[in-house]
Amino acid sequence: MGNQAPSIMTEEGIPEESDPATYDDTIYSKSEPFPVLELPFDKEGFVQSFNVEQIEEYKAFFEKYGFVIVDKVIDQEAIDGSIEEVWAILEASTKLFGKEDEKVNRNDSNTWVNDIFPGNPMGIVGGNECLRGKYCWQNRQNPNIYSVFSNLYGSKTLWSSIDRWGFMRPTKNVPMGKLPEGGKVRTEVNAETSPDLEAKDHPDWKTKKLWLHWDLNPWKWTGTQEGVDYAFKDFITENNGSKNDGKGKLQGILNLVDSRVGDGGFCCVPGFHRHLKDYCKLTRCSTFAQKNSLNYSFVNVHPDDPLNQQAQKISVRAGSLIVWSSELPHCNYPNDSSRFRVNQYIKMFEAQEGKTNTDIRRKILDEVFEKQNIQVTDLGKKLFYLEDWDTSFWSSLF
Ligand SMILES: [Fe+2]
Repeated sequence: MGNQAPSIMTEEGIPEESDPATYDDTIYSKSEPFPVLELPFDKEGFVQSFNVEQIEEYKAFFEKYGFVIVDKVIDQEAIDGSIEEVWAILEASTKLFGKEDEKVNRNDSNTWVNDIFPGNPMGIVGGNECLRGKYCWQNRQNPNIYSVFSNLYGSKTLWSSIDRWGFMRPTKNVPMGKLPEGGKVRTEVNAETSPDLEAKDHPDWKTKKLWLHWDLNPWKWTGTQEGVDYAFKDFITENNGSKNDGKGKLQGILNLVDSRVGDGGFCCVPGFHRHLKDYCKLTRCSTFAQKNSLNYSFVNVHPDDPLNQQAQKISVRAGSLIVWSSELPHCNYPNDSSRFRVNQYIKMFEAQEGKTNTDIRRKILDEVFEKQNIQVTDLGKKLFYLEDWDTSFWSSLF
């Protein structure tokens, strides 16, 4: 297609077949930005949200923006219990190659330093630890969360993901040293609670700044370019696997501490799901698109792409669920406050009997539930594939 980038909203000038000699990576910096959607905020400064009964309202919001927030999907007891569970995981973890005696202690901020803290630079915690804990399983089989995913997919036969936790340390005015214990769930640190300690800013604790990405391959997903199917190997691989069956792919965050704009959290490009196909038609003319069009189910936005300037921070209350279309570029943005950011990644997807290794999954989960004495509800048995879905069960749910 030469050096002339076509208008991003039309198909004009886009060749039927890509010719490697004409790939053009400057296409990203030359392309015009997509229209930015203004987000509605409520009086307390959080992005507009809905309650679980406002089904038509939240579906309409999702249709327009490509994401939606539903409030109070879990209660305070579950919020507090979940936060305690993440701390327990952090305290039990040893950083790779770290010393056994160097572990995180929630009551000693000197142990939150980079040499000890086990989270990754993106603010995500956990691997196999995601299989451990009463609340992580309780949340994954929560009926409110199921109903939101079910309504957005227009499908009842869903499976729940087994995904990780999100955790960001505070980075502003952190009192350094032994903190008061007092039994309170630790969500914030400040000079008021620890007047005797020297407070310090910790820019070195910030997570990666802007890493907008898709958890799918946009060109393969939209059918713009051929790709290779992604094989399921383990839980994390399954979470990132994607096949476009026409029903969409949704992702979710269960938020556990109020996340205001300064606290770090989730950001995305609202409304981009409506432009993805046009975008892919344009960008398939680039080397970047070609390189990312085969095996990858995690694709970063090109560094020169104006999309990087269009990401918006999504402020959200504790106990709320954010669900977004995987067609939106998204990432975590860093913490710039004295509060922690804590969340659980939960998503649901169409049951895939026959498409993945259900027997192994059932065996693993049966063992996990028995060992940990986890209460699995009738709904949970379907969502964790211990039992097949059957239509007679729905009447007890809806
Ligand atoms: Fe992602």
